[in-house]
This record gives sequence, structure tokens and C-alpha cells, in this order.
Amino acid sequence: MPDQTITSVSREHRKFRPSAEFKAQANLGSEAAYKRLYAESVNSPEKFWDRQAKEQLVWRKPYKKVLKWKPPHAEWFLGGKLNVAENCLDRHLGTARENKAALIFEGEPGDVRTITYKQLHLHVCRLAHIFENMGITAGDRVAIYLPMIPEAVIAMLACARVGAVHTVIFGGFSAESIKDRINDCKAKLVITADGGWRRGKVIELKANVDKAVENTPTVQTVIVVKRCGNAVTMREGRDVWWKDAWDGAPNSHKAKAFDSEHPLFILYTSGSTGKPKGVLHTSAGYLLGAKLSAHYVFDLKETDRYFCSADIGWITGHSYVVYGMLSNGATVFIYEGAPNQPEPDRFWQMIDRHSLTILYTAPTAIRAFMRWGDNYVLRHRLDSLRLLGSVGEPINPEAWMWYHTLIGKKRCPIVDTWWQTETGSIMISPLPGVTATTPGSGTRPFFGVVPKVVDDKCVEVPRNSGGKLVITQPWPSMLRTLWGDDDRYQRQYFSEFPGRPEVYFTGDGARQDKDGYFWIVGRIDDVLNVSGHRIGTAEVESALVSHPSVAEAAAVGRPDELKGQSLCVFVTLKAGQIASEQLKEQLRNHVGKEIGSLAKPDTIRFAAGLPKTRSGKIMRRILKEIASGGEVKGDTTTLEDFSVVAALQAED
Ligand code: WTA
Repeated sequence: MPDQTITSVSREHRKFRPSAEFKAQANLGSEAAYKRLYAESVNSPEKFWDRQAKEQLVWRKPYKKVLKWKPPHAEWFLGGKLNVAENCLDRHLGTARENKAALIFEGEPGDVRTITYKQLHLHVCRLAHIFENMGITAGDRVAIYLPMIPEAVIAMLACARVGAVHTVIFGGFSAESIKDRINDCKAKLVITADGGWRRGKVIELKANVDKAVENTPTVQTVIVVKRCGNAVTMREGRDVWWKDAWDGAPNSHKAKAFDSEHPLFILYTSGSTGKPKGVLHTSAGYLLGAKLSAHYVFDLKETDRYFCSADIGWITGHSYVVYGMLSNGATVFIYEGAPNQPEPDRFWQMIDRHSLTILYTAPTAIRAFMRWGDNYVLRHRLDSLRLLGSVGEPINPEAWMWYHTLIGKKRCPIVDTWWQTETGSIMISPLPGVTATTPGSGTRPFFGVVPKVVDDKCVEVPRNSGGKLVITQPWPSMLRTLWGDDDRYQRQYFSEFPGRPEVYFTGDGARQDKDGYFWIVGRIDDVLNVSGHRIGTAEVESALVSHPSVAEAAAVGRPDELKGQSLCVFVTLKAGQIASEQLKEQLRNHVGKEIGSLAKPDTIRFAAGLPKTRSGKIMRRILKEIASGGEVKGDTTTLEDFSVVAALQAED
């Protein structure tokens, strides 16, 4: 370790202030300016957001009203019309940005493509025509299942251009998961590729789509991008090659304007119970939140070359690869493959090769880099970097210090950004030219955000005590509902505190320190965060129980140095089934098939019984303690049969 002062104490007090040099060039460089803008944004939110909406967005028709808030439903910029794709592309044409790189892409095999704003606009216009010729109209749903290649961005923006609602499905999800998502939103069109590169191998995306669409009656067309050249089956009348659809499509496209509240996308995310939730985001408010936060949190400059390592299938890819970045006219670098292909220094190589200035990645990646060893980093200069970001889970102070020292060379501020699929944009984060950062804390709220740490009655807890993290005022990029299930939306996010229907519950636990900085301590619902991906315990359990050998299953998280949390499952078998290593492997693969490899359990333990309350509820708290190797503490009086616990511990 290069820095012997690294500490594992979570009550971290060190403060790192931005340098005078960074402050002097920052988009916001003074505490006074932050305080003034923040105060205005929360005390007079409509005035603040009115000004921002006028300054930041290109409107076709001005809105009449900034906000209508009938908890739990918010509408922003009512009566206004705009086109989101036009806000990301057309606005830059005829300006100095026209020939600037919008995307720089590097494939895993090393192929590089640079696409200027003008070229990206042209691609999007063509695809918009193709969509229209296929009969895709405003409001239709389109599923996108692509690797991290420029076509993914083009497809999203072409949907936005014609008012279609995209749902991007991460390439790591299985055919089952694709099918469920498509059927939930009734998509008419799927866009995929023959395959994508991952660790030198081809991930067969088209084959997964083929399996999925056997059982999706709404899908009429599948557009296939040729990426890897692997063999695929094309079904006549349904499947078309992207390249063939392209022939003859015109280059210009007159975009229609859509209402501020027109749906932009659905993104599925894990909930504590049942099937994934289709988080719905709409147009103007979402775009404004993504754009303004990108400008301030990443301190974007015309000359920046920004690298976000998140896949387009996650909200981070939506807000900070596509919408927030392109609307600001930024140059975005995207990479298709694994960070250790061919060697664990791929990121550092690419940063030097493309002179990248900002890196936004996840704690799980940072911990992997630490483990692979400093030498992979030290071979590279990394002198183009000026700002670092972290997202997805709490970053432990050791990882923060390593990121600061080895990657940022103690020169680059780190923005630890807390937000969610549901919030649409960054909610809590340092502003790099203003905030003194502390390893492990997201520090303070962004403009317009009113977070509080409260007890079960929604009363704010004293400083340094833990509680539930809530947001008490609506914000423009908040989710509007869950697709097809507004009741669940209301129950999940706005029903935690009786008599307080306006309070949004994040599902996270947090504390505020004496300086008012926020510290996120993790989820309090039954959702795990494995390598920065949200996985619902219920989803994994129902996948396991669908296997013919399994009677019952319980999934819990266990602290893991690399992944943040690892997934441990306890399984009881049906009568006559024999526990074996082979069966464990079968079960892991079964979960991989049902959900995707990201949800494959790290540990499977067979048990004779699971600890339950007298009413039959599995006591996951106890299993969590057993999984972590600790002794079972706390109240066990509600346990129906303590011998179950004794048996589990004895076997450990
Ligand atoms: C966690 C990702 C601590 C948190 C943008 C949240 C974080 C969930 C941070 C959302 C952070 C995200 N510090 N925890 N900087 N960022 N989280 O929807 O538990 O994939 O509720 O959105 O990730 O995950 P999601």
C-alpha cells in the first residue's frame, strides 16, 4: 500500500479540499455560490427550476406551469413540448460542436470508432426513419439488448426522436429475463446484435433473444447489428440486419415535439418482492435533472473526454453516457469489454491512449483493480485525468484512498455520487470545485434535493444516528410511476410513513455526521447490492424454487471485500433429493438461466430447515448472521424452532 494512513474505521474524518487550481477553473468554485443556489433551489424550487429549464433545454413550445404536485404524482413543465433527441443532437449542429466527437468507442478486440455530433445526428435520423417505416409510433415500446457499442446509443436516441419508449436490457440478463421485461411492457420491436465481446469470448445475444421471443406475442420485428460475426439464425419476416434496414433510409428527419411528460424510457430494477419494477421516466424533467447534474458534478468543459464505465443497461449509462452528457455537448468514451482484457490494465491503457480527463466507475471495479496490484497502474501516466467519480454502492475508505492516490495522483477530486434508478439523476454528491470530501461520504445534496435521515415516524434523527433516508420534496427527474402498476409505485415509495404521503422513501439506511454530510449504510429492504447491481432476494429465491429439486430457498447478502456484498443462498431440498456438489452447480446455472449470470449465488448451502417465525416468515436476519460466520445475536424468541439454527451453525 502506498499510503500507510489508510484506515478501515468507518467514522472517517479526513477532509480533502479542492486545490486552488481546480477551484479557479470549476463550473462552480465557491461555497457561497453553492449555498446561495442550494437555498434558492429548495426554498423557491419553482423559480429555480423555471430558470434552469429555460436556460438548459431547447423548447418547441413553452410550458405554462413548472410543477403540479399531487403526492405521489408529480408533473413538471406542464403544457411544454420538446424533443429529447433534438436536445442531445440538433442543438449542437451549426455550432463549434458540430464536428466534435460525441462518442469515442473502443471495442474489446481493440477496434476504435469516433463519431462526431454531426455523424451521430445522421445515424439517429436514419434509424428514426427506419422505425417509422416499421410502424413504430409515439408511445410504442422498444427493447434494446445490445453490447456497449455506439449502436446502443443510436438506438436509444432514435427512440426518443420518434417518441417511442425504450427499455434497455443489460446484456448479462438471460432469455427468461428478456422475455419477462418484453411481456411486461409489450414491446413491438427488439434491437440486438449477433453477439458482444467479453473476456475474449462472444456473448451470444441474438440466441438469447431468439429464445425470449418464442414467448413474446407483441414482438413483430427484431433488428440485428452485426458485431462479432458469429453464426445466427435469422427468422424470415421477423428479423432484419441493421445494415440492410439502413439501405435507402434518408439522412434527415424532422423530429416531432412531445409533451414534457411524454414517457422517455422504462428501466427495470430489482424490488424487494416479486418481479422487477419497470421504473418510468418522462422527458423534460428527466433530461433537465441529468443535464444540470452532469454539468455541475462532472464540472464538464468543452475539452473534456469523459469515460463512464457503466453499461448502457443501467441507469448510470442512461443518464451519464447518453442524456446528461450529450445534451451538454460532451465527448463520451465508451468501452465494450472487460476491464482485465487482455490484461488488468486495460482502463489505464485506454485513459492514456485517448487522453481521457474524467473517469466515472464503481467501487467494485476499484476494489478489483486494487487486488490486481498497483503495478498495472504504475506503468501508465494517467496525467490527462482531472476528475474521478464513484457510483453504485458505498465506497469504503481504503478503496477511496487508493483511487485518490494511485489513479488521481492526489490531484483529482473524487465525486462519490449517491442516486438510484428511481431518482433519474445524482441526488447527493460533492461538487468538485466546492466540497471538501471525506472518504466514504457522498457529502451534500445536489440542487433541489431535500434528503433527510428519519426514524419510523419520519422524525429527523439526531446527527450521527442511523435512520431511513428519505427525500421530502419532488424533483424534476424523479420516476413518475412503475409501468403498469401505479399501486405498487405508491406502496413502494410513498407509503412508508402514515400521514406523510409526500415523503419519498429510498430504501436506503443512512446517517448524517456533525457537518451534515450524508453516509449511506446500505439497503434496508430485501435488496442486495452485488458488484453495484441491485438484486432482489425474492427474485433469486423464486428462481431457485422453480428448480425441481428445491423445496424452499432464502437468499441473503454477506459482506464481501471485492463485490461489496456476495450472494449466499440457503436451500432445502424436496424429499428424496440428494445434496451434492453437482446439484450446487446445477442450481447456480439454473439461476443464471432464469435471471442472468450476475445473480448466480456465490455460496449455496443445503439445510434441513430454514429458521422461521411462528407465522412462517423466513428470518433472513438470522441467516445473514450465519452466512457471515457470526454468532446469532438478537431476539430469537419469535423463532418457531431453534434447533434449525443450531443445525445450521453446527454444520458451518
Ligand atoms: C446504492 C445506481 C452509496 C444505494 C445509480 C442505492 C450507493 C442503490 C451509491 C441504487 C453511493 C448507489 N453510495 N450507495 N454513491 N450509489 N448506491 O438503482 O443503495 O442501480 O439505493 O442506481 O445503489 O442502485 P441503482
